[in-house]
Amino acid sequence: MKIGVFDSGIGGLTVVKSLLEHQLFEEIIYFGDTARVPYGSKDKSTIIRYAIEAVEFLKNFKLDLIIVACNTVSAYALDDMREVSSCPIIGVVEAGVLATSNILEDKDSNILILGTKATIKSKAYEIGLHKLKFTNLHAKETGLFVPLVEDDIYDGEILEATFRHYFDKSTSPDAIILGCTHFPLISDALHKYFKEDTTLIHSGDAIVEYLEKNFELSNKYKTPKIEFFASENPDALKSVAAKWLNLEETI
Ligand code: DGL
Repeated sequence: MKIGVFDSGIGGLTVVKSLLEHQLFEEIIYFGDTARVPYGSKDKSTIIRYAIEAVEFLKNFKLDLIIVACNTVSAYALDDMREVSSCPIIGVVEAGVLATSNILEDKDSNILILGTKATIKSKAYEIGLHKLKFTNLHAKETGLFVPLVEDDIYDGEILEATFRHYFDKSTSPDAIILGCTHFPLISDALHKYFKEDTTLIHSGDAIVEYLEKNFELSNKYKTPKIEFFASENPDALKSVAAKWLNLEETI
């Protein structure tokens, strides 16, 4: 299977990391819209327009499947993308909702949803979780984590101050949905700030679970071919990919 992974920028590499760990695909085309990131502060019509343009770009590669790694795009644009796409498209929000419900048996579990301004405004996670009868939901826009992670800040004083800015000390979630591509990179710091046993829902792992359930895949592609494309400065994307994914060389 040859798949495309689309994100607003570099963050979707956290999803690629999960895909590579599970060796699910033979060929991966990654496209990051680095010229126009962040999407999380944009409005719905702009996000949909950009997402449709990404589908048009990915049509050049004759893909079997497109994975939308970006939570913001997954929250708003999947239906519109599917209308113009000739291959199936799946997004991380639905996968994250299902992963949450597979992990949490108690429907009263206290679930904290983190995401960009647009993702939180969409209420996409709440709508999905409500359908599965979860009621104790709290959502918080935490967009400042995006530039911090892009600046390689995964712990330390600035991040801790940002946690204090966003979270009341009395907040004690059973689970946190990392509803943004960048947030898995601050998992350790989140565990330190909240409780070590707080369940973190990671979009990459959730999409792997979703794929394994819904598609017939085998875990045999140890060295998939992976190509990176960006709408601006592809070399910067490739160098982050080499670092985050431990790739020796990137195309
Ligand atoms: N990729 C985006 C997301 O997962 C975060 C960065 C952005 O705002 O574009 O929501």
